[in-house]
Amino acid sequence: MVKIAPSILSADFSALGDEVRAIDKAGCDYVHVDVMDGHFVPNLTIGPCVIKDLRKCSEKPFDVHLMMTNPDDFLEEFAKAGSDIITVHAEVGYHLDRTLQKIKDLGKKAGLSLTPATPESVLEYVLDKLDLILVMSVNPGFGGQKFISAQLEKIAKIKQMIGSRNIEIEVDGGVTKDTAPLCIKAGADVLVAGSAVFASSDYAANIQALKGG
Ligand code: DX5
Ligand code: ZN
Repeated sequence: MVKIAPSILSADFSALGDEVRAIDKAGCDYVHVDVMDGHFVPNLTIGPCVIKDLRKCSEKPFDVHLMMTNPDDFLEEFAKAGSDIITVHAEVGYHLDRTLQKIKDLGKKAGLSLTPATPESVLEYVLDKLDLILVMSVNPGFGGQKFISAQLEKIAKIKQMIGSRNIEIEVDGGVTKDTAPLCIKAGADVLVAGSAVFASSDYAANIQALKGG
């Protein structure tokens, strides 16, 4: 069964604690937190201190997506704040292998994310350090964008590369009840969904719809 990771980017920021409790109760698998720095992406969101307080609202794994140019400077803080999976972007790292090792050394699961233009070949020599591969199916920065279908081929190729390794493929951006089945068919294990979960009030029904009804 595919896992659903609602992105709290689309939640009501004035009631973030209640929103996290609500998606927990609605049956989410992970809590997806989008961290944006205003450099790597043209938007700003939240940092470790918010994650630390939100930890009180759910025991579900916190899946923290760092859209930052300098993740290395903050890995320790994000780990201490209570992140379970820390995902960095392949495009920002000169020394990705070191960054991933640092996440593992902090006792956390390591994820690597690819923007739509980044080829899957970047994964080849770090596969054994990865717990999660995040395929961005929109250009990162904002919720509510249209799914880029060319990423389906990339997901299928990554599935092949992973082979028998224990690595989850997560798809992020433009996931709706129409695009979710395509992602699952291509090999996705986890679907991130912002708008599709938070746009209407029955979060449990919205999560269920993404799982296939
Ligand atoms: C985009 C973020 C996503 C985004 C998904 O940069 O990484 O997690 O919030 O939002 P939707 O599901 O609305 O495309
Ligand atoms: Zn994300």
